Amino acid sequence: MRPMAFDLVGRRALVTGASSGIGREIARVLAAKGAHLVICARRVDRMEELAESLRSAHGTEVGVIEADLAAPGGAAALIDEVEALGHPIDVLVNNAGLGIHGHGVEHDWEAEERMITLNVTALAQLSKHFARAMVARGEGCLLQVASIAAFQPCPGYAAYGATKSFVLHHGEALAEELRDTGVGVTVLCPGSTNTEFFEVSGNDRSPIQLRTSLDADVVAQAAVAAMVAGRRVVVTGLSNKLGVWGLRLVPRRLQAILARKVLE
Ligand SMILES: NC(=O)c1ccc[n+]([C@@H]2O[C@H](COP(=O)([O-])OP(=O)(O)OC[C@H]3O[C@@H](n4cnc5c(N)ncnc54)[C@H](OP(=O)(O)O)[C@@H]3O)[C@@H](O)[C@H]2O)c1
Repeated sequence: MRPMAFDLVGRRALVTGASSGIGREIARVLAAKGAHLVICARRVDRMEELAESLRSAHGTEVGVIEADLAAPGGAAALIDEVEALGHPIDVLVNNAGLGIHGHGVEHDWEAEERMITLNVTALAQLSKHFARAMVARGEGCLLQVASIAAFQPCPGYAAYGATKSFVLHHGEALAEELRDTGVGVTVLCPGSTNTEFFEVSGNDRSPIQLRTSLDADVVAQAAVAAMVAGRRVVVTGLSNKLGVWGLRLVPRRLQAILARKVLE
């Protein structure tokens, strides 16, 4: 933990996947706390609307960049565009991501490859680039959006769950490597959250997922509070926290069987 809370006033945050859901709400929370923003995703009209509302509500400076982070070279192109704006990035929110529901062997490879590029490759490339500059300046924050899917094998979301395990373990390891640099890394692990995620992934939520769902603004508040406080991992919602804790007592084979009941 860093000794003092990270002050967001006047800082500049890059938020990926800010056109909807958790990313849009994190952008709102950061702006309300005084940060300026660079936001990116594919749907520019949605981001322009958000940018306009944040400019008028808080006087936030907002740069909008169209980016396809699932495309080869997408993250590199975003880095070039952000660097061309000429402002150092103090906070990187690696939020853009999607899932594909169903049996892994049946998924179209091109779609699965795009998901892995988005959830893993782009996140790792953006983290490396912006964290290096933060380390050189001796301060900054990374907020990496994983999932409670990261904590166990996920039948029904096999490849998606594995991408989120990457995000969790990569983030926790980076946090330790960067411990004495002034740069914090926080991994957000939401459970079921009311966003477009399930529609995009082609999945109707199970009754337990519906019962435990949180709204995206609640998840965003918890994420930013944890990041500012320098926490390494934040699981949102009491039932999710208990579930993740309880998994430690369950053999991995049984974890997969239990997860299948919830996710399939
Ligand atoms: N909702 C949940 O239950 C839940 C639970 C755990 C973790 N998460 C994680 O939370 C993060 C945000 O998801 P969400 O729930 O807020 O879902 P969402 O409403 O579908 O938002 C996903 C965001 O990612 C962006 N995105 C998707 N493909 C992209 C691409 N190729 N290039 C750039 N941006 C792209 C989308 O923007 P465009 O479509 O405009 O590009 C959108 O802004 C994801 O990493 C997800 O895995 C969600």
